Parts: sequence; structure tokens; C-alpha cells
Amino acid sequence: MRYEPLLWIENLQGWYGESHILHGVNLAVPRGQTIAILGRNGVGKTTTLRGIVGLLTRTTGSIRMNGKELIGMPRHRIAYTGIGYVPEERGIYASLSVQENLDLLPKISNRGMSLERIFDLFPNLKERRRAAGGTLSGGEQQMLSIARVLRAGPELLVLDEPTEGLSPVVVQQIGRVLKALKQDGLTMLLVEQNFHFARHLADHFYLMEEGRVVDDFPAYHLEARLETVSSLIGV
Ligand SMILES: Nc1ncnc2c1ncn2[C@@H]1O[C@H](COP(=O)(O)OP(=O)(O)OP(=O)(O)O)[C@@H](O)[C@H]1O
Ligand SMILES: [Mg+2]
Repeated sequence: MRYEPLLWIENLQGWYGESHILHGVNLAVPRGQTIAILGRNGVGKTTTLRGIVGLLTRTTGSIRMNGKELIGMPRHRIAYTGIGYVPEERGIYASLSVQENLDLLPKISNRGMSLERIFDLFPNLKERRRAAGGTLSGGEQQMLSIARVLRAGPELLVLDEPTEGLSPVVVQQIGRVLKALKQDGLTMLLVEQNFHFARHLADHFYLMEEGRVVDDFPAYHLEARLETVSSLIGV
């Protein structure tokens, strides 16, 4: 058990209602590493993340976090195994201030990041701490969405397209934050369409097609695999 990855997914199948979307996802997230899932639109990347956090109608196979089986576990308990999920839609409360948004999620461990460290990582949020969530720019909302999950104290940070729709400057800022978190030893699972963003962060890549993981390789094989990757995801 000691050498089991932090998150280990075997033959995950997943459904939205009657629609069978995931047909076999196998994936390992070792402690301290950053894993990226790549794939075209609609192949099931978001669905995989939603399956991990218990948001699908039905899942089969196995998802183990820290050795605990998540399939069949009630949704509200899954976060307490140490998973922090930053969804694509961000989910900021528009009428609450930045500071209030930061303290909204229940603490899932005693690793929760201090406000001081949060504001050190995201200086924009410090400046805007009293502003209402709804008045933030897209980039600030994305930062707040990541920050409040960090505040809860996850052992695994799961991010769905954190750079989507953001300007190059903000993408760079988010890249710097994720690099700092990685240096701190945080484990991350990242879905990203922006391949150039992911390639500077990830230690290992998984490629998905039609609801399945079809290939995976470590970052040091990326150069040799660029052709396969670009034929699959068009970069
Ligand atoms: N709530 C839902 N109900 C039914 N089908 C859904 C639902 N959400 C997504 N799907 C379908 O599941 C499939 C996988 O979608 P998913 O959102 O996981 O793709 P993705 O890889 O994240 O794509 P993108 O790059 O566009 O974000 C698609 O065919 C999509 O139409
Ligand atoms: Mg998606």
C-alpha cells in the first residue's frame, strides 16, 4: 500500500443519466507530481474529473484516493479524502466579497493555506479583498476559485481548464502560482486545452479519446511524442 499513488483510477466507466460517457479511464497520480489530461473537445476530460468527485449519475470501476475507494462513497464525504476540485465554471458567489468567498468552503484538513500565503500568491486578490465576487475580472475569478480551494486544505488539487478564456498575462500569472504550489509539494491533476501551458507544468501526460485513456507518457518523452500528441489534439 505504501507505494500506491495518491489517486489511482482503474477502468472507470461513467454515465450521465442513460448516456454512457466514460469507457475505461486508467490513470495514476503519484504524490507530489502534476498530471495533465489532454484530448480534443468532448472526449470526457471534464466527465473524468466529475466522476472523481462524485458528480456523475453512475460510475463503475475503481477510484482510490489514499487507498480509500471513492466509488459508492457519498459525494459530501469525497472532499474529506483530501480532494480539492476547481471546476471550469468557477462558482464564485457574486454578492459576497473576495474575503467572504475565501472562507466559504469547509476546511477538509489542517493543511488549509493561511490568508497571508494566499495573498502572497495572489496579490490581486489582496488588493480586491473587499470587492464583491461579481465585480472581478475573469482572471481574478479564476484566481479566487483556486485560492478558496487551497484554503480548504486539499492534498490533491484537481483543475479543469484553469486558463480557459484568460489573457496571456493572466495565464502566465496562473502558471507561476501552479509552479509555486508544485514546488511546495502539492499534487495536482490538470485538464488543459492549452498544451503550451500544460507542457511546462506536468510530469506525466495522459491522452483521452472517446471516453478512454488511449496513451500516457512521462514529460521527458514529450519531445519524442509530439507528433502523436499533435495528431490527437491538434497542436
Ligand atoms: N450533463 C451532461 N449530460 C449528458 N451528456 C453530457 C453532459 N455533460 C457532457 N456530456 C457529454 O459527455 C461527453 C464528454 O464531455 P466532457 O465535458 O467530459 O468533454 P471534455 O473532454 O471536457 O471536452 P471540452 O474540451 O469541450 O471541455 C460529450 O459528448 C458531452 O456531450
Ligand atoms: Mg471539459
